[in-house]
Parts: sequence; structure tokens; C-alpha cells
Amino acid sequence: MRCCHADFALDESSDPGFTIGMPTFTFGAGVLAEAGENARELGLRRVALFTDARLAAGEHVAKVKASLAAAGVDVAVYDEVRIEPSDASFRHATRFAAEGRFDGYVSVGGGSVIDTCKAANLYATHPAEFMTYVNAPIGAGQRVPGMLKPHIACPTTSGTGSETTGISIFTLTSLNAKTGIVSRRLTPTVALIDPDVTRSLPTNIVAATGFDCMSHALEAITARAWPRRLNPAKGVSRPVSQGANPFSDALGAQALKLVGEFHVRAVRDASDTEARTEMMYAATLAGIAFNASGCHLPHGLSYAVSGLARDWNVKGYPEGKTLVPHGMAVVLNNPSVWRHTAAVSPQRHLDCALALGADAKGATPGDAGEVLAKRIIGFMRATGMPNGLAELGFGEADLDALATGAEPQYRVIRNAPVDVGRDDLVGLFRSALRYW
Ligand SMILES: NC(=O)c1ccc[n+]([C@@H]2O[C@H](COP(=O)([O-])OP(=O)(O)OC[C@H]3O[C@@H](n4cnc5c(N)ncnc54)[C@H](O)[C@@H]3O)[C@@H](O)[C@H]2O)c1
Ligand SMILES: [Fe+2]
Repeated sequence: MRCCHADFALDESSDPGFTIGMPTFTFGAGVLAEAGENARELGLRRVALFTDARLAAGEHVAKVKASLAAAGVDVAVYDEVRIEPSDASFRHATRFAAEGRFDGYVSVGGGSVIDTCKAANLYATHPAEFMTYVNAPIGAGQRVPGMLKPHIACPTTSGTGSETTGISIFTLTSLNAKTGIVSRRLTPTVALIDPDVTRSLPTNIVAATGFDCMSHALEAITARAWPRRLNPAKGVSRPVSQGANPFSDALGAQALKLVGEFHVRAVRDASDTEARTEMMYAATLAGIAFNASGCHLPHGLSYAVSGLARDWNVKGYPEGKTLVPHGMAVVLNNPSVWRHTAAVSPQRHLDCALALGADAKGATPGDAGEVLAKRIIGFMRATGMPNGLAELGFGEADLDALATGAEPQYRVIRNAPVDVGRDDLVGLFRSALRYW
């Protein structure tokens, strides 16, 4: 079996097993109309439907509501989800969930909506002081004590894969940085993944979310290998994300092939149904892969970038506040990270570049980081991404603050294939300032 491949050789301290979690998911055009029968199958009579203000009046929410109504399921809509949620917005959503005494949840939206729904379900089902379940060392990192209520997740973006993960991400306002809650129990019960939703996505959202998907797959494949993970817990205490493993390798590689072929097409042409459908599928595959393997440096660094950015907004996203789209914050660190990590597992980095369609003729393992970085820079230029962190206004004077923001992201940073210290973080941010 592939697990015996040298990358995955066990040693005395290795956990001999890895666990893969995912919801029951249905993929296909039109499957949002199956929300009602799924709710009935789960025994739900009264659900909270989570969405955001823009989507609330749109066709996707209408389709799900009609399906629930046809199945005789009562629906109360919560449409105050904050795009890029915060601890305050999670608390607000929790009050709605707790007061409504629902027997299940439906989310219709991007990662912001699905993550908010997971958190509201958690705190309404197992009430606790807010930091109780938040990742250590930022929060207390306590185990979720029992099952949550059923959750039917209907993603409307093609990137986060949140519909498949046991992860919920938010900005902790007091730290000005993102963190999260991670538990297998947060995984939605059912995901209805309908590529028809991508028709209404603005170009910039397709661009940013596609890079989120790409980075999930790259980080899943290049993470510290599962037998060498730092958290030694076994059995049911095994962490959700356990490092690179044969299952996430396979899904990640397929996701990268789809990204290489379809991402730029999906961004450039909203009527390219094939490209947008394949990117939706890639996001699902990459979601399952990174949930099992874990993200590492590009995500860890991105959390500081989103927290510290000033005066940045992108057309297509909510106006009037600083917001770096998650996928944009992630891809801006990508080339810098791959140039740094490729030496640890050159073949994996080269395989990723090839899966993304790079021309690697004559490349040696020593070229792996550069080949991968160049391929990604090509995609960034083709889809209108900023030229590094400097274009967001960051400079040499901000590198220290960025490193301080990234340092507490142990969950992801310690999943990197190499140990990184504060000086490395400063160096990684410096190399991400400008790419062309
Ligand atoms: N839990 C996880 O596993 C996970 C993984 C990756 C990212 N995330 C988190 O997800 C969040 C980002 O989510 P996202 O990138 O999906 O975007 P989002 O949910 O923040 O939405 C971005 C914008 O797109 C709009 N939108 C969504 N679907 C649309 C559609 N079909 N048509 C038109 N407009 C649409 C929304 O109204 C919003 O204005 C971040 O907070 C990120 O940290 C979570
Ligand atoms: Fe992400």
C-alpha cells in the first residue's frame, strides 16, 4: 500500500493510523432542490437557514427555501452573517440559534456563511464561554463535548471547501488576526454542492476563491507527513488534520489538475459552465484533502495579512470596509513559501507544479520551488492578483508586525514540512512583498 511509501514510513512514535472525515455529499447541477428531502430524511421539522445579506434575496436561497417548504420544513432565516466573520458576529449568530430552538441548520453561502452556521450550531448546542473551543494557544482548545444538530451545507463559492470540513474560521478582533475552531463534530452532516450557483459569482470572487482551493491542495500535499505529526493523539482523539497522507495526496493532485486547466478560464468567462463546474468540484476535493492533512504556511501567514491590512477593498466584495479576500491573502504568500519549503520534499513540489500544468522540461529537484512559484505567479498575473504584499501597502517596516500576527498560528504553522522560527517568518513575508 502507498502508506509504506518512504514519505509515509512509520517510526516508533508514529500513530499507525489516520482518519478521514467528510460529510455525505451530493454534487451536481440543480441539487440545491434536494435540500427539503434531505432535511426530512434527517428528521428536521424546524431549521435555521443561515445566509448573508447579498444572497438572502437571490435565487440560490429562494431555491433552497422552496425545497424546504415543499417538504413541510419550517424555516427561520438569519441573513446577518458578516463576510469574513469575527468573534462578535459569531456571538450574534449564536444568540439567534439559541433563541430559536431549532432542530437543525441549513447554510447557503460561501465560507463566511458555512463557518458562522457551524459556530452558531456549536455554541447553541453546547453553550460555553466563547474562547472555550477556540484553538490553543489563542483559546482553550477544549474538545467539543458531544454531537451537534444536523447541518445541511450548500456552498455558493468555489474555493473554501468549508462544506466538507470540521473547521470554522473567524477574526479575533482583540488580536487583529484570524483563528478558528476545529473539531470533527463541526463537519456538516450533508453537503449539497450545486455548480449552478457559480453563474452569479463576480470575476474577482472566482479568482480569489480559486486560489484558496489551489492552496488547500498544495498545502495538503506538502504538509508534514502524517507519521511525523507533532500531535501524537490516537483513536477518537486523533486531530482532524493529521498531515500529508495517501488519501489527501490523491484528492489534492486531482484538484490541482483541475485548477491548472480551468481556473483562468473560470475567472475570464462567467458563461464557461464547464470551467466553473470543474472549479466547484476541485474545491470539494481540495476541502476533503486539507481537512484531513491540514494547511500550513500560506494559510498561517495569510491570517496576519488579513488582520493587518489597511484601506484595501476588492470590487465584488462588500464595500465600505477593509477586506482582503481570503484566497487573495493566501496566494500572495504562495510563491515565497514554495521557494522556502521545496528543499524538504522537492519531488512533491515538482509533482504539484506538473499537476498545475507547469512546463518542467529538464527541471531538476533543485528547481522545484522555482518551477512551482513561477507557475503560480503566471496564474496570479493572468487573473489580476496584486503584485505581492507591497501592493496592499505593506513594506519593510511592517514585517515585524506581520511575523507577530503569524507566530501564534501554531495549528497550521507547525504542520509545515520545515520548522520555522520568527526570523523565517520575517524572511517569508519579505520575499512575498513583490513578485514581478
Ligand atoms: N472552514 C473552512 O474550512 C474554511 C476554509 C477556507 C476558508 N474559510 C473561510 O471562508 C471565508 C471566505 O469564504 P468565501 O471565500 O467562500 O467567501 P465569502 O463567504 O466571504 O463571500 C464573499 C462574497 O461573495 C458573495 N457570494 C457568495 N456566493 C455568491 C454567489 N454564488 N453569487 C454572487 N455572490 C456570491 C458573498 O455575498 C460575499 O459578498 C473566510 O473567512 C475564510 O477564512 C474557511
Ligand atoms: Fe482557505
